[in-house]
Amino acid sequence: MVFKMKIIGFGKGIPARCVSNDDIAQFLDTSDEWIFTRTGIKTRYVCTTETLTDLSVTAANGALEDAKLNPDDIDLIICATLGGDYGTPSLSCCIAEGIGAKCPCFDVNAACTGFIYALELASGFISSGKAKNVLIVSAEMMSAKTDWSDRNTCVLFGDGAAGCVVTAGNAVKYINLSSAAMPNSTVLNMPNGTGNSPFTKEQKSSGFLHMQGQEVFKFVVNIVESELKLVQERTGLSPAQIDLFLLHQANKRIIDFTGAKLKQPPEKFPCNIQRYGNLSSASIPLLLFETVKSGQIKPGDTLLLCAFGAGLTAGTCVIVWE
Ligand code: COA
Repeated sequence: MVFKMKIIGFGKGIPARCVSNDDIAQFLDTSDEWIFTRTGIKTRYVCTTETLTDLSVTAANGALEDAKLNPDDIDLIICATLGGDYGTPSLSCCIAEGIGAKCPCFDVNAACTGFIYALELASGFISSGKAKNVLIVSAEMMSAKTDWSDRNTCVLFGDGAAGCVVTAGNAVKYINLSSAAMPNSTVLNMPNGTGNSPFTKEQKSSGFLHMQGQEVFKFVVNIVESELKLVQERTGLSPAQIDLFLLHQANKRIIDFTGAKLKQPPEKFPCNIQRYGNLSSASIPLLLFETVKSGQIKPGDTLLLCAFGAGLTAGTCVIVWE
């Protein structure tokens, strides 16, 4: 399968308020020491007055400017998110309104893997000639989805959006999407409520994100390992031939474990989890954006993007940077 696609512009939208581990330890039984040693996180950004649409529109406008395109040049907007400011309209429709675009738009929910799913969808539209330029925005307001009295989850996540424009090109060499049913759906989930239907036998209200961290940890390291094996089988690329591994920023220990397993040096695994925490679907595009802009990624570099999230879903993408 050939993916005729390249990334031509990036943008990001990050809330103003930076929250440190010490800030959280003011109201929760936790500590900077516990959070940093178990996860690698020092700070995260959290919405105070910003909406998710605000962050997403900022990211979208940044990506358009970087790509030197106008809203009229965009043929499709795909938003990867666990959920926007509304059940409907979709976040992608809110972005279209915010930037003044009139193209088709839809959201995709593949949890933290959403960006890779969006890339694959964009490649389908571009390869079929249905779209020339696709705007992808990954955006999450995790602060509204976690229970701030649950130290197992709220310390791990942050809010933010990252976007890019993709267009025809030869940079993207490989994408694989997968999912693996968790043995027990309660290991990582966020239940929706039943509303107030008088016909429902048992009415339930919406719940916060719930995670059994150790179970998810074990599942994740296995799925990352099998994704990376598949890359080698299908593309012939060995770990040594990959210049940079951009892994989902869920836990620095998962990233270090993967590096050690592949016998690759830590410099090949850029990280921004220390500053942002886990941004779900926005983690990888934000990391890619920052690594490109810092000059760490150069034309010709082979990049491996690997994301995993609730479901479990997983996705991997190989890009030779143009
Ligand atoms: N501060 C202080 N103590 C905490 C804490 C916090 N924020 N969160 C949990 N603890 C405590 C627990 O209550 C537990 O205490 P106990 O031993 O007295 O019961 C202890 O720390 C160990 O908890 P545990 O869950 O076993 O820690 P862990 O080393 O597995 O780390 C995670 C927890 C969530 C950081 C880790 O399991 C993880 O990263 N999992 C994978 C997450 C992931 O990849 N998600 C991807 C999809 S988003």
